[in-house]
Amino acid sequence: MLTGEKSEVRKRHFHLTEEILNKNPTMCTYDDPSLDVRQDVLVTEVPKLGMEAALKAIEEWGRPKSSITHLIFSALAGIDMPGADYQLTRLLGLEPSIKRIMLYHQGCNIGAATLRIAKDFAENNAGARVLVVSSDLTVGTFRGPSNDNLSCLVAQAITGEGAAALIIGADPDMSVERPLFQILSASQTIIPDSNDGIEGHLREVGLTVHFSRNVPELISRNIGKCLVEAFGPIGVSDWNSLFWIVQPSGAAILNLIEAEVGLEQEKLSATRHVLSEFGNMGGPTVFFILDEIRRRLLEKRKTTTGEGMEWGVLIGLGAGITVDTVVLHSVPIAEGR
Ligand SMILES: CC(C)(COP(=O)(O)OP(=O)(O)OC[C@H]1O[C@@H](n2cnc3c(N)ncnc32)[C@H](O)[C@@H]1OP(=O)(O)O)[C@@H](O)C(=O)NCCC(=O)NCCS
Repeated sequence: MLTGEKSEVRKRHFHLTEEILNKNPTMCTYDDPSLDVRQDVLVTEVPKLGMEAALKAIEEWGRPKSSITHLIFSALAGIDMPGADYQLTRLLGLEPSIKRIMLYHQGCNIGAATLRIAKDFAENNAGARVLVVSSDLTVGTFRGPSNDNLSCLVAQAITGEGAAALIIGADPDMSVERPLFQILSASQTIIPDSNDGIEGHLREVGLTVHFSRNVPELISRNIGKCLVEAFGPIGVSDWNSLFWIVQPSGAAILNLIEAEVGLEQEKLSATRHVLSEFGNMGGPTVFFILDEIRRRLLEKRKTTTGEGMEWGVLIGLGAGITVDTVVLHSVPIAEGR
């Protein structure tokens, strides 16, 4: 489902090596024109990293790649034409007629948002199998410090890079497919008065990221409402009865959500683990957390996929501030999973 071992991902895919930075000193200042050198790396490497994740997902899924009907590719950076979705189709040898959608330059909530889009594709096209790929490198955003944009430095301190892929469909063929979670609903909302909360601007200098100091407070103040709207229809109001996946955009955000919602400490343990091991990788991060939950289940020999809980919540946090809330349902763990 996801890219492999942490050490492999770091060793093989960390593109900001001394060598590259020495060769391209304009990437190391705050605002020297450097878009071209960044693009040279991103345009090639974003689809390649996505390919590695996709190959693992397809192999675990067990069906032939010709059964994939749709591709949704998200990447913060590396915008190009034809895009990373096209390159990935060629790299993987997918059907040329696959229905593709490319989402560049979205915020960190894009991982959660692609679940919503994939769910719609899967439910409205009989037999659809949607390959979701998210690949984010820090080559677009890495830069030297600026006294005028301290948040850029803060963001870099918590940012990592990675790729993840998964396959989403309706009506699984249980003779081959072994579903991990069911997506019951997926919604998105803009937090009131959050216009300059999280922003990213693409310029000759590359992509600069800005976020205001009140982001953690704005998110935590509004998270309860998102939960009530998502879980009201199924009569769930005990937030500790859920398994949790939260976009880990900083420890302050996780701490405030925990306090606001009254979460037991253990609830964000998979989320915090991925933040500490990999950083916030943007789109792929929530999929890494899902995989961490799966890994722990196998160790604990549980019989369902959601930490022993029936329902779970996956929260994406991104530009604006945008919040995506995905309601997940556990499924029995199938043989061989
Ligand atoms: C980054 C973070 C993990 C650091 O946590 P910490 O180690 O406990 O330290 P603090 O929260 O005290 O912050 C460290 C310093 O960064 C500064 N800082 C934090 N957020 C900042 C922001 N958005 N802009 C500018 N400076 C910021 C703090 O003011 C502090 O500086 P100071 O020591 O001069 O007062 C935490 O501040 C956090 O999670 N922030 C939220 C990040 C966020 O908004 N993410 C969303 C977009 S990716």
